[in-house]
Amino acid sequence: MTEPKNLTPQEIVAELDRYIVGQAAAKRAVAVALRNRWRRFRVDPAMRDEVMPKNILLVGPTGVGKTEIARRLAKLAQAPFVKVEASKFTEVGYVGRDVDSMVRDLMEQGVQMVRDEQQKAVQAKATELAEERLLDLLLPKSAGSTAINTPGSGAGPVGFVTPSDGGHREGTREKLRGMLRAGGLDDKAVELDVQERSGPPMQIFGNQGVEELGINFQEMLSNLPFGKKSKKRKLKVPEARKVLEAEEAQKLVDNDSVNREALERVQTSGIVFIDEIDKVASPGGAGSHGGPDVSRGGVQRDLLPLVEGSTVNTKYGPVKTDHVLFIAAGAFHVSKVSDLLPELQGRFPIRVELEPLSQGDLMRVLTEPKNALTKQYSALLGAEGLDVVFTESGAAEIARIAQSLNDRAQNIGARRLHAVIEKVVEELSFHASEIANTGGKRIEIDEAFVKAQLKSALADEDLERYIL
Ligand SMILES: Nc1ncnc2c1ncn2[C@@H]1O[C@H](COP(=O)(O)OP(=O)(O)OP(=O)(O)O)[C@@H](O)[C@H]1O
Ligand SMILES: [Mg+2]
Repeated sequence: MTEPKNLTPQEIVAELDRYIVGQAAAKRAVAVALRNRWRRFRVDPAMRDEVMPKNILLVGPTGVGKTEIARRLAKLAQAPFVKVEASKFTEVGYVGRDVDSMVRDLMEQGVQMVRDEQQKAVQAKATELAEERLLDLLLPKSAGSTAINTPGSGAGPVGFVTPSDGGHREGTREKLRGMLRAGGLDDKAVELDVQERSGPPMQIFGNQGVEELGINFQEMLSNLPFGKKSKKRKLKVPEARKVLEAEEAQKLVDNDSVNREALERVQTSGIVFIDEIDKVASPGGAGSHGGPDVSRGGVQRDLLPLVEGSTVNTKYGPVKTDHVLFIAAGAFHVSKVSDLLPELQGRFPIRVELEPLSQGDLMRVLTEPKNALTKQYSALLGAEGLDVVFTESGAAEIARIAQSLNDRAQNIGARRLHAVIEKVVEELSFHASEIANTGGKRIEIDEAFVKAQLKSALADEDLERYIL
């Protein structure tokens, strides 16, 4: 059983800090939840089963980092992780996906993850085997067959092959190996059987029903003789090597052990992030009837057993969700947390509020994270050969304008920055290549620049219409 990666809560928060500004409470909550998975592994097995994950509900206005936290957490967790939007389960005419599908997706993730790991682990061996097969293909048939057909070589005692013959053949093979490794044979082509799927992977309608029975229909099909086609193809050595390595790696990895490990990992450290959960709450109480509310309530009721712990059939076997961690998030603008079914509320015992972003926060969002917007734009325009620098005063002005728009129109949090900055660099973006060709390569975006670019927009009464 593999342990979840052991980052301490502080380390997890530090990692999240590189991308997300503020929201300390939310970061701490998810960090502790993640660490608790690891702690659970250290607990006496009898107790271990009793330790249930404490599911988390993130509540906060739009555009303040809820989804972003989930996205970063997924990278950190090194555990099977899926993110779903609760609202998609209520879409009119949305057929074929039920709430259980999130667990099936999680399992799919787990299998993919474990398979990747195991294939990496056998990579060296696969490379070796692939090289031997390449040499077999490259070694002229005549030389090979004469050596093998040397009288007695098959029937006689081992090592009966005449030293000169065998030695010669070995020598050729080693010489060839040296050339192969040095890349001297990269222009040569070899012929090999390439497995081909007939057309794109077959999509079977109503697959889900079959999946629920635990039958792997796709795999069954692909195992049938007509599902796979092998075709002789001539490939250049480097390409052939890739094909052979992949084939060998696949042969070395045992599917059953992949599935077993994946199942274990999903059940003990899987994380499901349910975004937009407020969209399935019914304002005016979960009991109200009519229209979409029925399906919203339905989605909530379907979620109950999953979150509580139940068994979902997947094509890899039944998956128990008792120890899967659920993190839900929602803005709860229209509906309130209390509009969720009480039973569902109860299953998210840890509730964390995310703060609206202040002007200072916006300024930091703009400049600090590793993927900050100003860094992105500098990099993009850098591709044109321009050296674009956002000065402190420039960034502050963008933040100030974003903040005032958030105050006057709707508060859409950090998303407002995207709109404002796009407007600021619009002219520059359009003319970047010409500017780069006519000297002036360094461009400072300071307060004056920002003001000048937004002048027409700022003069307008309907400011928000311009910028949104
Ligand atoms: N605290 C923050 N730090 C850094 N970037 C942020 C922060 N909050 C929001 N952003 C940026 O703003 C954008 C929107 O954020 P995100 O998707 O997390 O919003 P959300 O809270 O999930 O909102 P919604 O309720 O509308 O889904 C993203 O590009 C994100 O990078
Ligand atoms: Mg979101």
